[in-house]
Amino acid sequence: MSLRIKRISTGIPELDLLIEGGFPEGSWIMISGMPGTGKTIFAIHFIYNSLAVDNAKVIVVTTEQEFGDYLLQAKRLNMDISPWLRGEKKLYIIDLFHLAKRAREMSKEVRVDPLDIPVLVDSVRRAYKELGVDKGEDIRLVIDSISAFYARAPVKARSMTYELKLRLHRRNVTTLLTSQFAVTTRGTFGYGAEHIVDGVIELELVEEGNELRRYMWIKKLRMTKIPLKRIPFDITDEGIRLEELPS
Ligand SMILES: Nc1ncnc2c1ncn2[C@@H]1O[C@H](COP(=O)(O)OP(=O)(O)O)[C@@H](O)[C@H]1O
Ligand SMILES: [Mg+2]
Repeated sequence: MSLRIKRISTGIPELDLLIEGGFPEGSWIMISGMPGTGKTIFAIHFIYNSLAVDNAKVIVVTTEQEFGDYLLQAKRLNMDISPWLRGEKKLYIIDLFHLAKRAREMSKEVRVDPLDIPVLVDSVRRAYKELGVDKGEDIRLVIDSISAFYARAPVKARSMTYELKLRLHRRNVTTLLTSQFAVTTRGTFGYGAEHIVDGVIELELVEEGNELRRYMWIKKLRMTKIPLKRIPFDITDEGIRLEELPS
């Protein structure tokens, strides 16, 4: 039996080099951090690379901004994903932010809550079917962010994430979740959801004198040797750039 694990690129080449080539296929990865630390931009790298380089299929679930904003942000960073919205279905959008906005306009009797785990599971399973998950297609699932589901019941974050992974995990679907730190308690690690996922990358903005510096911490990544160092990075017009490779 081969022990080789297929690696899925993060979309950030310098980062791939630090983690044996990328995320193990089929793993669930959480990108966590405070607002403005670069979680959505990280997700855009992953989405763009999946489509443009790997020729994979991508499901994007947005809960905090409309997908249109995503498109704009990606275009600004030179990672235009709009071409994949046309032609053969490769990019499948589940815009829960848009649905949540619409739901507010409906009467209480008919309103469904889009930010409900069973609703999410059903939508994603419909996408799986349409994209051919059972035929072994290479699929990437991005949920930006998962914290929107935790908002009403933070104590359930761990069980919700478990439920989600249990019902949506497939060996040919590699999943990226973004997660906010609760600004007050400072913890996705307070939520407990990081125990459920296979990898955790934390993004930080750290005060150094009169400056703020960006760092990335790879806190956990199953089946992978990880650098036990904070990795400095920058966000530029080309997105996330790692500054120096720790030896
Ligand atoms: N072209 C750019 N050059 C430099 N920084 C940028 C650029 N575009 C966005 N940013 C930075 O990225 C941050 C937003 O990143 P984002 O991924 O949306 O954060 P998060 O999803 O973690 O809240 C902004 O606060 C901004 O400082
Ligand atoms: Mg974001």
